[in-house]
Amino acid sequence: MSDLKGKSAIITGSSRGIGKAIAIALAREGINLTLAARSEGPLNQTADEIRKTHKVEVLAVRTDVTKLADLENLYNKTKKKYGKLDILINNAGVSSQSPFEKQPIEDFERLAHTNYLGYVRLIRLVINDMIANKSGAIINMVSGSTLCDPLPRNFIVYSSLKVGLRAFCKGLFWEMRDHGIKVTSILPGVTDTDLTGKLKEITGDTSRLMTTKAIEDAIIFALNVPANVCPLEISVINQQTPWTKPVIPFKQAHPDK
Ligand SMILES: NC(=O)c1ccc[n+]([C@@H]2O[C@H](COP(=O)([O-])OP(=O)(O)OC[C@H]3O[C@@H](n4cnc5c(N)ncnc54)[C@H](OP(=O)(O)O)[C@@H]3O)[C@@H](O)[C@H]2O)c1
Repeated sequence: MSDLKGKSAIITGSSRGIGKAIAIALAREGINLTLAARSEGPLNQTADEIRKTHKVEVLAVRTDVTKLADLENLYNKTKKKYGKLDILINNAGVSSQSPFEKQPIEDFERLAHTNYLGYVRLIRLVINDMIANKSGAIINMVSGSTLCDPLPRNFIVYSSLKVGLRAFCKGLFWEMRDHGIKVTSILPGVTDTDLTGKLKEITGDTSRLMTTKAIEDAIIFALNVPANVCPLEISVINQQTPWTKPVIPFKQAHPDK
């Protein structure tokens, strides 16, 4: 029997894509779930699917991670149902690819509030209870794009926020170590989800895309390491092609080529 059985987890952005795949993987381990996303239809559908196929509790809480009141509600409802939170998986994210000079100005706030502030705020809301419990695991969905320097063309606002998130998580890892809390960043390569479906250039050749399998496995690995160990970062990157090339069609030579 898995040690994870009966634990509780919040997974943001779990109505579809990587978050949904993680939710199913955690349910397989017997972990009770709180699922969060903005659109109630797909969120409830995912919750129902998991309830039908796994013997775990599933709470669906409509949440916009850009809104502090929604994050407070998400955590309060989880605590009320499960008593305490063992695992936080910060995964909700949006994308915006564009040459910088053409990128809609309103995209910046949406990206910053979803992909950076949403993560930091939710961690701040749960962290004091985890410190009091002297345990907890916080896993954050960063991005393989943070491994590129310079950042991938047409992707610099998204990627620079993920760089900031990655740096924050690394700092948090050291601050939380003495409290018995584990902090892990996952750096996925280009994965077959709605988020990448918008990238017309790569969906023509789907063999280049990863499925969610390696990400699910990385998370289960991170949650199963011995108590005195914590994977700080796990990169799961596409093997078939260099990371950036399928995402960003280079119109000119990359500066370091
Ligand atoms: N796919 C990739 O290649 C890839 C690579 C590296 C990193 N990532 C990261 O992995 C994470 C998941 O991406 P994905 O590919 O699974 O994307 P996806 O298929 O588009 O799913 C995104 C999920 O986040 C939710 N979401 C978006 N904005 C939200 C908000 N403001 N509040 C609450 N939930 C919100 C969506 O539901 P609603 O729209 O209903 O809210 C959905 O459940 C993101 O952080 C992304 O940056 C993805």
